[in-house]
Formats: sequence, structure tokens, C-alpha cells
Amino acid sequence: GKTTLLAPSILSADFTNLKASVELAEKAGADWMHCDVMDGIFVPNITFGSFIVQAIKQCTSIVIDTHLMIVDPDKYIEDFAKAGSDQITVHLEACPHLHRTIQLIKSLGVKAGVSINPATPVSLLEPVLADLDLVLLMSVNPGFGGQKFIPGAIKKIMQLDAMRMEMNPEMVIAVDGGVTEENAAMIVDAGADALIAGTAFFRAPDPVAAAKKLKGLE
Ligand code: DX5
Ligand code: ZN
Repeated sequence: GKTTLLAPSILSADFTNLKASVELAEKAGADWMHCDVMDGIFVPNITFGSFIVQAIKQCTSIVIDTHLMIVDPDKYIEDFAKAGSDQITVHLEACPHLHRTIQLIKSLGVKAGVSINPATPVSLLEPVLADLDLVLLMSVNPGFGGQKFIPGAIKKIMQLDAMRMEMNPEMVIAVDGGVTEENAAMIVDAGADALIAGTAFFRAPDPVAAAKKLKGLE
């Protein structure tokens, strides 16, 4: 089959040397650079904004995958597009007019993703599934890196895989939170195409070797 896409989350990187961290991910064969934007309102933590995304973009040519964990994302989507995001993912729980938000992302020439929290059923994605480039299934409650994978995510990956086969076979399923070398194969077998990995990549003793294992190449 196809190889699994790997998206290291910059959140777990060494921010005193952002450029070296991004170059390490690229050298390790990362497919996307995952940028976790948190506002302290939608999630109980604050990270960074479009200014840092733009800095990351300047360090690499790989896909910039921006995960907005913020309320009222419509206000900032254009900024994140201009900063160089190739894909922008918003949370279903933060978007009362989700269809409009998705169209806004696409109107800027950026791929559109929707993320759902562990307590949100995949069935709520049905009305917009045909419009999406990716779904980002959360396998932890968003807010922090280094949390434990919530096992209930596996069933949701399988449900979403069945839904997209019918409605949008090109759509990518990405899984975010608590992904490790130990559970990566199980997550991919359930139907995931892309794995987000913060701790398991940047905090690994040998990130290049970890990337190979996460991608199922070793
Ligand atoms: C969680 C973020 C994740 C997280 C992943 O709120 O969306 O991207 O940083 O980190 P790990 O892989 O350590 O769970
Ligand atoms: Zn994320």
C-alpha cells in the first residue's frame, strides 16, 4: 500500500532553534509540518500565531499544515493563508457556520480540513465531508502535547474511513494526539493516512529512526 504521511508537530520542538527543528523534520522525511495554534479560549493553552507559521514556512518547502484550535477562526484564516499555510484545519466545535468557514479556506487557495474532539461523533462531519481535503481526528483532548492516546479513537477512524469511501475517497484522514511507534500501525490499519507526532518525533532519542518507524518503513 501507500506509505503513511508523517506530520511532526512543531509544538514539541526546540523553540530556541526553530530552523534546526524544521530542518530535522524535513531531513527525517516528514511530509507535512504540523503547526498547533492555540488561543487559551478554545483550549486551555496558548501557543503561537501566524507570525511563527510564517517563520516556519521560510525554513522549509514541505507542506505547512496549520491546526487552528481557536474560537472564531474566520477572523484569522486569511492571515494564516498569507503566512504560507498549505492546509488549514478548523475545529467543528468552534465553527457555528462550518460550511461557510470551509468555503472561506478554499477561496484562499488553501486545502481545507476539519478537526473533531474525542467526544464529537464523526457523523456530524457528514454534511461537509464531500467538501473536505482532510479530517483531523483528535485522539487526545487538544491543548497539550505528550498526552495518552484515547483508545476510542480507533472506532472513529474506522467509521470515518467507511464514510469517506462512499462520499469522498480522496479525502485524507489524519490522527492527532498520543501517536507513538507502538500504536502507529494499529492507527494506520484502522484507516488513517497521516499521523501527527509531537513527542514521538521531536523527543525521540533518534528522530530520524523514529520517523521511519512511524511511517511504517522499518
Ligand atoms: C494537541 C495538538 C497535537 C499535539 C501532538 O492539542 O493538537 O498536535 O501537539 O503532540 P503529541 O504527539 O505529543 O501527542
Ligand atoms: Zn495538532
